Amino acid sequence: MPSYLVTGTAGFIGFHLTKMLLSRGIDVVGIDVVNDYYSVTLKRDRLRVLEEAASEPGSGRYQFIEADLADQSAVDAAFANHRFDRVVHLAAQAGVRYSVTHPRAYIQSNIVAFMNILEACRHAHTPHLTYASSSSVPAIAATLTPMPSSAFSVGAPSISRWMARQPMARADPAISTVCPSATSASALPCPKRWS
Ligand SMILES: NC(=O)c1ccc[n+]([C@@H]2O[C@H](COP(=O)([O-])OP(=O)(O)OC[C@H]3O[C@@H](n4cnc5c(N)ncnc54)[C@H](O)[C@@H]3O)[C@@H](O)[C@H]2O)c1
Repeated sequence: MPSYLVTGTAGFIGFHLTKMLLSRGIDVVGIDVVNDYYSVTLKRDRLRVLEEAASEPGSGRYQFIEADLADQSAVDAAFANHRFDRVVHLAAQAGVRYSVTHPRAYIQSNIVAFMNILEACRHAHTPHLTYASSSSVPAIAATLTPMPSSAFSVGAPSISRWMARQPMARADPAISTVCPSATSASALPCPKRWS
């Protein structure tokens, strides 16, 4: 069975993915900073459900690391202590309005943290990386204006564009991006798989 790193396991998608993987007997290491962008109680409850799921017969093993992915040493330590066959990067700062008041959160979580994951995967020769694209593309993107409306709109699309330009990503079918919403799929150069 492959071993997975899932980031954002206290979040909506990361939680459900991790639960599903564990039920299939797959080992998962989860990382989340458990920030207060929305209810921390809900996130803690999700983490508790995952602990319980991991104690079911036939479940994969589960380890949770509470850490900020923008902290390079935390990311490097996770990769030094585990060998991941697959990384699913779902930790991110979502939302548009919040970015007007908290722009730094987007730079830290959507750019610095993502770069730390990319670099860790590169150095560890991780065979497969999947990451989620933005759910909130600015409406003005359709007009191709060079003026971003929010820090959120700078982070996610620029990462997608940056990925598209990387020789590693273009050449490597092991890197894929998930576009969960029609909005992101239509507004971003966001193929299912870079190849
Ligand atoms: N939920 C949707 O409908 C939807 C749709 C399209 C795209 N997406 C994208 O999928 C991804 C996950 O979405 P979600 O709904 O699960 O979001 P979420 O906000 O529920 O979960 C994100 C998790 O990441 C964690 N996190 C944020 N910054 C972090 C950091 N620096 N280090 C460690 N953990 C950090 C948060 O604490 C949170 O638990 C996001 O990129 C989002 O934009 C979601």
